Amino acid sequence: MGEGFYISGAVAVVCVVAAFGAAVTIIALSVAYAQEKSKSPLSSAGPETTIPHTTPSGPQQPWHYYRLPDSLLPDYYNMTLWPRLKPDSDDLYIFTGNSSVVFTCVRETDLILIHSSYLNFTTFDGFHARLKGLDGAPAPRVKMTWLEDPTQYLVVQLQSPLQAGSQYELLTEFVGELFNDLRGFYRSEYTEDGVKKVVATTQMQPTDARTAFPCFDEPAMKAVFYITLIHPQGTVALSNTMNYEPVNVTVNGEVLIQTSFEPTEIMSTYLVAFAVCDFGYNETKMDANVLIRVWARRKAIEEGQGKYALEKAGPILAFFERYYNSSYTLSKSDQIAFPDFGAEAMENWGLVTYREAALLYNPEVSSDEDKYRVVGTISHELAHMWFGNLVTMRWWNNLWLNEGFATYFSYLGADYAEPQWNMKDLIVLNEIIGAMAVDALGSSWPLSTKEEHIVRPEDINGQFNIITYSKGAAVLRMLSGLVTETVFSKALHMYLEEFKYQNTVYTDLWKHLQMAVDKAGISLPHSVEDIMNRWILQMGFPLVTINTQTGKITQQHFLLDSESVVSRPSEFNYEWFIPITWIKTGGAEQQHWLLSKEDTNTDMALGASAWLLANINMKGFYRVNYDAENWERLLAKLSSNHQDIPVINRVQIIDDAFNLARAKMVCTTLALRTTTFLHKEVEYLPWKAASRNLLNFFYLLDRSEVIGPMKAYVKKLVTPLFKYFKDQTLNWTKVPERPTDRQNRANAIYLACKTGVVGCRELTTGWFREWMKNPATNNISPNLKSIVYCSAIAAGGVAEWDFVWGMYKNATVISEASKFRRALSCTKQPWLLNRYLQYCLDPEKIELRDGISVIIDIAANPIGLYLAWDFIRANWEHLTHEYGLYVFGSIIDRLCTRFSTEFDYKQLLQFKQDIEKEMDPEDAYFEYTLERIKANIDWMALNKKLVLDWLINETSKLSI
Ligand SMILES: *[C@@H]1O[C@H](CO)[C@@H](O)[C@H](O)[C@H]1NC(C)=O
Ligand SMILES: *[C@@H]1O[C@H](CO)[C@@H](O)[C@H](O)[C@H]1NC(C)=O
Ligand SMILES: *[C@@H]1O[C@H](CO)[C@@H](O)[C@H](O)[C@H]1NC(C)=O
Ligand SMILES: *[C@@H]1O[C@H](CO)[C@@H](O)[C@H](O)[C@H]1NC(C)=O
Ligand SMILES: [Zn+2]
Repeated sequence: MGEGFYISGAVAVVCVVAAFGAAVTIIALSVAYAQEKSKSPLSSAGPETTIPHTTPSGPQQPWHYYRLPDSLLPDYYNMTLWPRLKPDSDDLYIFTGNSSVVFTCVRETDLILIHSSYLNFTTFDGFHARLKGLDGAPAPRVKMTWLEDPTQYLVVQLQSPLQAGSQYELLTEFVGELFNDLRGFYRSEYTEDGVKKVVATTQMQPTDARTAFPCFDEPAMKAVFYITLIHPQGTVALSNTMNYEPVNVTVNGEVLIQTSFEPTEIMSTYLVAFAVCDFGYNETKMDANVLIRVWARRKAIEEGQGKYALEKAGPILAFFERYYNSSYTLSKSDQIAFPDFGAEAMENWGLVTYREAALLYNPEVSSDEDKYRVVGTISHELAHMWFGNLVTMRWWNNLWLNEGFATYFSYLGADYAEPQWNMKDLIVLNEIIGAMAVDALGSSWPLSTKEEHIVRPEDINGQFNIITYSKGAAVLRMLSGLVTETVFSKALHMYLEEFKYQNTVYTDLWKHLQMAVDKAGISLPHSVEDIMNRWILQMGFPLVTINTQTGKITQQHFLLDSESVVSRPSEFNYEWFIPITWIKTGGAEQQHWLLSKEDTNTDMALGASAWLLANINMKGFYRVNYDAENWERLLAKLSSNHQDIPVINRVQIIDDAFNLARAKMVCTTLALRTTTFLHKEVEYLPWKAASRNLLNFFYLLDRSEVIGPMKAYVKKLVTPLFKYFKDQTLNWTKVPERPTDRQNRANAIYLACKTGVVGCRELTTGWFREWMKNPATNNISPNLKSIVYCSAIAAGGVAEWDFVWGMYKNATVISEASKFRRALSCTKQPWLLNRYLQYCLDPEKIELRDGISVIIDIAANPIGLYLAWDFIRANWEHLTHEYGLYVFGSIIDRLCTRFSTEFDYKQLLQFKQDIEKEMDPEDAYFEYTLERIKANIDWMALNKKLVLDWLINETSKLSI
């Protein structure tokens, strides 16, 4: 505990340790952090390694290194690919292709290394490839060719060297398989009107372009791509650019279509995309010259589900053009939704691919949140047209230059498209708080790492993590606030201009920001580079502590668990240059730069009744602690006039206090006290922040005697909010105007029903019963559906359950189906939960891809927890066979959020020993999970009684 803490004697006695980091971590790690990638559920192993090459002994040859040598640079590719949408006689879905790459030799070499994986090559004179010299350059003769694993190269050794300055062409012919693995060039299957359909599409990022055609598969190896696809009658072929008129070709007597595309921009291999499908589309124009189309299953288009995306995509694209003062250079922008897509979406230049739920919207069944997801995802992907596509990070270690920007701008783009929604505020809840939860762990990692640490495809995949996305966005938001948005956008314009069609490192960005800052005459205490490097090159973030008695300010590296070992050294000794914005009673916003470990600002020393609040609107990526007196005054202010504190700071006070309590720096009761003002609060953001933190308590306490008083407390807090919305909506007959009110109405009903507020259950079950009576007309407000279904199923029996099950099986809108699926796990009947678990073993009932979420949802139900746990143990072999150990770790992980007793701990330990043989020795999940359960047990031991006493006392006091 650092200096500047003043806990009065009485408080200190009951002040306890909160070993609660566990629960927050899970929440944070399970946040849908990655817009493009959501595969790795846990990055606890850290995103980097230091393995430069593969063979353990013997001399290292160039093909043993994962990075390409710098001797050859690609100019353009020319390829023709023919995917088969029907299985061949071996029951394989294949594609055949030929491809040539024209490259320039920049350093004499007798070796060509080009990435290739999962491709079988036709041989010419015994070699995998042919080489031609261009412009009269003679081509050396090939000596030897082979495929090298695990570095994934096609190796071509030559008898004599290629000449520096000359151009050559390497030609290959190959066959590959269209797996349904959501990677590379793959197939995806779905059923429409009872007919099974197959589409072929791509997901190249980060390292799977090499599975579709041989290529120099690194982001800095930019080139132009000439693409031709051959496909069956009745299908359409799409790629990054506009197609030329398709022609018929006859192959082995079959008449097929051949579609060629205009050459692409100069771009990275991971942005190549193509698709063959029979989808429908809607189209419009942006600014008369860019064609915007939305593609999806025919039925979805006919139902108008693409309409919303079509309306918003053009304006968002135009907004970014203006913001960056840089035009979108292609003649079209296609958005296409696939029923089966691994990531949320992918920003392929000109052909952006999405999951259906991230692009399609149906006003009758989709909620506001479904809509945010659509507009947020479109914004994110379209921001990539500049940050990522036009200017690309040189290597994956600086992926945040793509993803941090896209994440930050997704909120600005969405705010432009839907100004009513307060999207710019939502970034605090959705990104910043989540990033802080992970970045407060001793095992966190910096935003930008060394290039040589990110080498293998697995390392590269690991870069798609919450730090890259959310902390990247948070740091950019802080920077934009520091230099003002006008200067920020000018700097970005210059950066994009200088580096278009090229690659960058972060110092290129600092350079342009510095120039813009100098030009605008903004004074900063250090250079942009010196300030910002501390935020991106060291992990973690500071806790700022302000003593309002003396005006003393200190900083320290904030760790949720003060005992966690920080093994990663930092060249900056975990100190930051911190822009502290603050206000005190009635005053205007001021700024103080904290440039050392401690400092004093006498203006921050307060008189007897004043309060001080720092980090206004949570623009800075840090947390704040105060002396006990100031906490008391802030709490008093919240109780008397909470509106005097900006709404984002109401979020901040709650979230900082709960996290400080977890870090044992303030009492758990202080954290709880930051929620008592909620009985007067009607704004969405503070309610959401508080319910997240309180739900963590529910998770741990809901099988203990504390749950009764806990529910009573939350019930008292939420009752006025429930009444407020009842009045505002004229007894629930009207929909609130403001979108955040609509969200908070849902929040109110959720918490009210959970804690038994009078009238809540009657309300939800009433709506549900009406719908059951007349299944064809569902009048439940889309925003309330999840809550109403869940609440009605919890209150009901088998009839309600079977009714929703029927709806689930017939749902045609993905987001609607997932609401039904989740609601089914809300029942309180153990036999229904068990039956539902059994359904997970039958892919006819629950599709494979949804099985894991069903089990997790059931485990989140207090009654389902142990049922799910028994189920997993009983069916371990089957489940690991279907889902693999990797995905499986995430179930154990989620399940154990709630384990908090010695008995739970022993059970998991026993299970671990039982299955030790089958476990991947690298798998750290169990260790990690066991550690977290220990932390939960400790937390319970220290806090249970304290929380119980506080709740009982507080509930009796709170008048409503
Ligand atoms: C690409 O290859 C096709 C034939 O395979 C050829 O007709 C076309 O001219 C080539 N395009 C370029 C730009 O080399
Ligand atoms: C490629 O070759 C391997 C080994 O012979 C074979 O198992 C695989 O099926 C082939 N793939 C295709 C698409 O032909
Ligand atoms: C291509 O072939 C299909 C089927 O044989 C035919 O319907 C179509 O008119 C042909 N198109 C062209 C441009 O020749
Ligand atoms: C979208 O396309 C469908 C099918 O072609 C058509 O019926 C519908 O009117 C189109 N909607 C819009 C908004 O263009
Ligand atoms: Zn992205």
